[in-house]
Amino acid sequence: MAERVPQLRVDSGKVSAWSGECLVVGVYEGGQVQEAAAQALGKEALQAVQQLLEQGWMRGKADEQLLIPVPFTGMAATRLLLIGLGKQEEMTLEKLRLCGGQIMQVASKKNVRSLLLLLSLDQHVAKHPSSSKGSKRRRELRAMAEGAALACYRFNHYRSKNEDEETLPQELVFAVARDEVSACRDLLGQVAKVVQGVFLARDLGNHPANVATPDYLAKVAQEMAQRLPIKTTILDEKALRKQGMNTLLGVGQGSCHPPRLIVMEYRKGGDHPPVVLVGKGITFDSGGISLKPGDKMEEMKFDMSGGAAVFGVMQAAAELQWPINLVGIVPAAENMPDGKAQRPGDIVHSAKGLFVEVINTDAEGRLILADALHHAESFNPAAIIDLATLTGACVVALGSQCAGLLGNDDRLIAALRQAGDESGERVWPLPMYPEYQELLKSPVADVKNIGNREAGTITGACFLSRFVDKERRWAHLDIAGMAIDMNGKRSYVPKGCVGYGVRLLCQLIEDQWL
Ligand code: BES
Ligand code: MN
Ligand code: ZN
Repeated sequence: MAERVPQLRVDSGKVSAWSGECLVVGVYEGGQVQEAAAQALGKEALQAVQQLLEQGWMRGKADEQLLIPVPFTGMAATRLLLIGLGKQEEMTLEKLRLCGGQIMQVASKKNVRSLLLLLSLDQHVAKHPSSSKGSKRRRELRAMAEGAALACYRFNHYRSKNEDEETLPQELVFAVARDEVSACRDLLGQVAKVVQGVFLARDLGNHPANVATPDYLAKVAQEMAQRLPIKTTILDEKALRKQGMNTLLGVGQGSCHPPRLIVMEYRKGGDHPPVVLVGKGITFDSGGISLKPGDKMEEMKFDMSGGAAVFGVMQAAAELQWPINLVGIVPAAENMPDGKAQRPGDIVHSAKGLFVEVINTDAEGRLILADALHHAESFNPAAIIDLATLTGACVVALGSQCAGLLGNDDRLIAALRQAGDESGERVWPLPMYPEYQELLKSPVADVKNIGNREAGTITGACFLSRFVDKERRWAHLDIAGMAIDMNGKRSYVPKGCVGYGVRLLCQLIEDQWL
């Protein structure tokens, strides 16, 4: 995994002495060369570049690029990549991420091994609204590096040969001033770890359901405990029965791959109460007896993307040695139809003690989360945040631009929104008025697992809320529309599992708890 993240370096030396392959120069729309490059290249080289621009080789629009032999003398580097940035006043962190990704896409297609970025990363976005940590330079460098590194993800486990004949760049060097070398180096080190967390999440999501079973996820968690300061506990079927986790067991009972509750504890925060992350880990969602239609059913291998994100955050936190207490919980099960499968109408006794009437076996995510959230309570956490590909209704409501955000704590919701805007993994709030809870009244049990057709994302969250203590700070992210991207239109997101949530939660933790 790790080797796919290119080396992210800084260099404060002379450009002419840099012994790598390709110089990268940013050009704004209209053909204006960025200040950083203008200075680094010197007068003659700059003139050569400006001449190309005047000749109309490129205009500097955001999706433009031009890779050419270095059109001036005196450089060790042999290639020059001009990268379009669009209008300077319209620059955003997300555009910098996309630009970073674009650079790596060109480089990998053209087999460029090493790049030196002569970019101005301090003049676009306004200061972070409430964080003193976020200087412009820091945030822009981070976005660009993140985009570039994230674009280097490949999932080739199941290809016998490398058909694209591409070579990923090995080294990405940012040209920075001498007095910024050490701060930038630290920052890039952090970016690399977070990106590795995203790659882990993407891998787990992209493995098919015949490989990534609940037991497979459990083994990955155990392997993480071997290599990092993480304590992993796995509850197998027997242990789940002992704990009375029947809503989790019920969902898994139709599969030949038995369910697991995966608990990962990272404790470097003294005696502070932990933050608990809970991620839905349905390794395949056929719908169960309430079977889904066949079209696109293969995409339901991604129904453990919330769980995958929790793995990614746990790895990043441990790798970065963050001074916090963090617990990751992933209820893992496969939702299948079978002679032994759970039926509509079944009533199951959850670990919390509530009886649940299962009206629809396809509303399984909330069932496995019910027992997992109850387990989260046993850690007496400072906050619980869950991520789940929970409802198709969320995809209808918000599309694939932001996750649905619900919860019971305005401060946590505001913090998540801010982390979403900063990381580019956006979230948008939906209401949880108490009246919605009435839709979950069962004629026979304490609660039923679906409402009517109205407000599907909200009733999903309302169901979850029954398993969280009233006073507990809790937020739920419905990531159904965010977990996968089958378009490949964003330069830093290859087709498949996005790894959504890892960057969002790392940002949140940095903002709130570091
Ligand atoms: N995993 C699905 C939700 C989903 C749908 C995720 C599309 C990603 C893309 C979830 O388990 C599910 O089936 N939800 C049902 C709930 C309904 C039965 C109340 C849904 O959304 O149809
Ligand atoms: Mn389902
Ligand atoms: Zn599901």
